[in-house]
Amino acid sequence: MHPPRPFVLAITNRKGGTGKTTTAVNLAAGFAARGQRTLLIDLDTQGHCALGLGMSLGEGQPAAQHLFAETPIALEEAIVPSRWEGLHLIPADTSFQHDRTPSDEGALARALAAPAIAEGYDLILIDTPPSLDRLLLNALGAAHATLIPFVPHPLAEEGVRQLARLFFRVAMASNANLRLLGVLPIQFDGRTGQHKRGCAQLAHQYGRERLLPPIRNDIRLAEAFAAGQPIEVFAPRSRGAEDYRRVLDQLLERMAITDA
Ligand SMILES: Nc1ncnc2c1ncn2[C@@H]1O[C@H](COP(=O)(O)OP(=O)(O)OP(=O)(O)O)[C@@H](O)[C@H]1O
Ligand SMILES: [Mg+2]
Repeated sequence: MHPPRPFVLAITNRKGGTGKTTTAVNLAAGFAARGQRTLLIDLDTQGHCALGLGMSLGEGQPAAQHLFAETPIALEEAIVPSRWEGLHLIPADTSFQHDRTPSDEGALARALAAPAIAEGYDLILIDTPPSLDRLLLNALGAAHATLIPFVPHPLAEEGVRQLARLFFRVAMASNANLRLLGVLPIQFDGRTGQHKRGCAQLAHQYGRERLLPPIRNDIRLAEAFAAGQPIEVFAPRSRGAEDYRRVLDQLLERMAITDA
């Protein structure tokens, strides 16, 4: 069976600061470097994806959230090429007002079906806000699969549980094809019993095959982000770069995309 093209992967967790954006930016850059035509969509109005890719946007730049405006844009109008070949961004509108989001949870899914997007990309990654709002529901409604980065301590596991509940709700109600592609330990420290226990618990709960190889704690990832570069460009020999390469390999396999 052929994998869906483009494959739409939402990076989600109900908890803040679990490495969603770091993961979205580095995976998007990694997929593009491996020959996948990749579109990164920033649904989080913090707008961090553009920062992580070192992109400064012009005034009046159309953004992902304009899809929900009274007069919605065609999503392809918001696409901006990055400095890296094969990687494009749809940035976030940092002044977007959440309370004005319409109740339509299928708007993004419909927009991604437009030929300019559906035919232009192999992979679409969506970075999502930690809040449970319609932006997150739109991401889950549009995705083929979701990836949940988590920091392995007790509170973070609650975030994964909440997200998993939401995942099953959306899968039952509106997007029956949605898969849980993986849970990804972030800032992992193998010397900490709590981290090892946290990972074991999630492997038990969601299946060992869902647990991805961990991303270790590496300050270079924060430095790369601040420098506006993917880790593979900023510090290709760092632990962070090595760990994300391993995750990229596994994800390409899990998405059954092998012809890069
Ligand atoms: N493996 C890592 N090692 C060290 N620091 C990391 C690692 N991954 C992410 N960070 C840092 O942790 C912080 C939070 O990461 P990030 O912004 O990616 O999380 P997030 O889930 O997107 O947050 P939010 O919920 O606010 O959108 C950032 O300062 C980032 O640089
Ligand atoms: Mg983020």
